[in-house]
Amino acid sequence: MTKKADIGMLGLAVMGRSLALNINDHGYLPAVYSIDPAEVDRFMEAEGRARNITGTKELADFVAALKRPRRIWMMIRAGSPVDEMIEKLVPLLDKGDIIIDGGNSNYHDTIRRVALLESKGLRFVGTGVSGGEEGARHGPALMPGGSSAAWPHLESVFSDIAAKLKDGTPCSDWVGQSGAGHYVKMVHNGIEYSDMQMIAEAYAMMKHLLGMSPADMQPVFKAWNEGELNSYLIEITADIMGHVDEETGQPLVEMILDTAGQKGTGKWTSQSALDVGAPAPTIAEAVFARFMSAVKEERVAAAQVLSGPDITFSGDKAAMVEDIRQALFASKICSYAQGFQLLRYAAGEYNWNLNYGAIAGIWRGGCIIRAGFLYNIKEAFDENADLPNLLLHPFFKEAVERSQAAWRRVVAAAVTRGVPAPSMSSALAYFDSYRSDRLPANVLQAQRDYFGAHTYERIDQPRGRFFHTNWTGHGGNVSATTYTA
Ligand code: 6PG
Repeated sequence: MTKKADIGMLGLAVMGRSLALNINDHGYLPAVYSIDPAEVDRFMEAEGRARNITGTKELADFVAALKRPRRIWMMIRAGSPVDEMIEKLVPLLDKGDIIIDGGNSNYHDTIRRVALLESKGLRFVGTGVSGGEEGARHGPALMPGGSSAAWPHLESVFSDIAAKLKDGTPCSDWVGQSGAGHYVKMVHNGIEYSDMQMIAEAYAMMKHLLGMSPADMQPVFKAWNEGELNSYLIEITADIMGHVDEETGQPLVEMILDTAGQKGTGKWTSQSALDVGAPAPTIAEAVFARFMSAVKEERVAAAQVLSGPDITFSGDKAAMVEDIRQALFASKICSYAQGFQLLRYAAGEYNWNLNYGAIAGIWRGGCIIRAGFLYNIKEAFDENADLPNLLLHPFFKEAVERSQAAWRRVVAAAVTRGVPAPSMSSALAYFDSYRSDRLPANVLQAQRDYFGAHTYERIDQPRGRFFHTNWTGHGGNVSATTYTA
């Protein structure tokens, strides 16, 4: 009788095959399956056979090849394919078996699937997997959540295959029940969107205000990567700036069409922020910026019609580059503050017991947003798990206060010279709003009460007491019922 496999990998596209090999590198025997038998053949031919991996072309054979409780890791396209596969798997499984979904699934789907499979005596885990192909092959960041009874059966394999920090700590930890793992991955991606957008804005300012070429920017990004902005995304941007197009001899980045794609996770993050009432404008602006980039033809036509100010900057260029660095760091802090604020609101909404220090810990390595300052974020939440906002922690408060003069100069320069910087300016507006003990929402409340008798609270009365004014003298004295959307 052949030896049963430790874990099943279902789906052999780039992420699935890379994870299967990573799992095998760590001493586990995987069985693999794909709905495309030719894909199984290709994988077995190229790597599987030499490693004694079990290749299967029938789902029943795949399931039968696994030790119990079975651990089946799906790396397939998110959405209906996951439901279809679950439906085919369930009749083949036994109580206690575990299905893992490692795709970028929507957390609402994961909440539903965990409940469905638990009702059948099975276990379901939705895990964030970050780091792309390279990460999957040699160490991703993993954000598992779902049926907590599954975790003791997964912990060692997840820790073994995950990215490791210098001290050996794995970038993997149990996030929480139900859809928590996929939610955390989604917020990771929302932050990824704003990190990327703000780096692009820094590039735009260096290009348009300071007349710098990508080759001029490469050493700047490299130097930034040595300091407090140290991160994977800054590192790859430095690399990107140095690439030359073989066809034209131009910097490759300048030959790339300025329309950004997206698969939806940034949009979901923003939608969820709206759903749970969390202010996450910097992340949302990054999504809108991608939408704006997509209307290329319309923008090209508008550029012929609409004019802006003179773009040239006549100040000290080196000082401006340093200002941009500081603006980027302060904006980045606000974007992460928003991401963690969103996680906190969602934890309340969905009854998840999220450990923010542990989440920042996972994100320190392997994932796309890995960055030096995630160590500081972890420390901040480890010190105070109930920290309402990162900006209130001494490290980040000091960092933002130190950078804010530069940050304001940069946003002002972008605004006065007409260089769009939606994420950096929204981050500054977020900071200024959050530190305001009085916002102009009193005017909104007066307007709402004026036109709709929606009532308002008063500064000289306890919270929760509502007042209505007959503003025009001819309205009624009856107020509309108070409710919050
Ligand atoms: C990761 C990434 C990854 C994501 C891509 C593309 O953590 O490895 O977030 O999961 O799919 O970055 O995302 P967009 O197509 O939405 O830009």
